[in-house]
Amino acid sequence: MAEWVDVGLEKDCPQGQRIVVDTDAGKIGIFHLNQGFYAIEDRCSHDNGELASGECDGDEIICPRHGARFCLLNGKALTPPAYEDIEVFAVRVHNGMIQIDMDN
Ligand code: FES
Repeated sequence: MAEWVDVGLEKDCPQGQRIVVDTDAGKIGIFHLNQGFYAIEDRCSHDNGELASGECDGDEIICPRHGARFCLLNGKALTPPAYEDIEVFAVRVHNGMIQIDMDN
């Protein structure tokens, strides 16, 4: 069953922006893409570096440490040196509040 947790205000993350939030599951990056909101764990699967501050290229994010790319939509590792996918979280907006499903 979904466990929706409030993590921020929709107005604080306009399209094209991102926020990083602290949760019980660690830091999570929330990205407001053209397609909507997406959330990823803020930890690169290559060397555990923080990931959410990386440059975005469409629906991909580039790790700021060694340049691995991940899909923001599904967490797939797309290029070396990362070979393991990262965790993604379902996101919704409810009454102006961004919520993440912590029951992944
Ligand atoms: S820590 Fe992300 S590519 Fe190395």
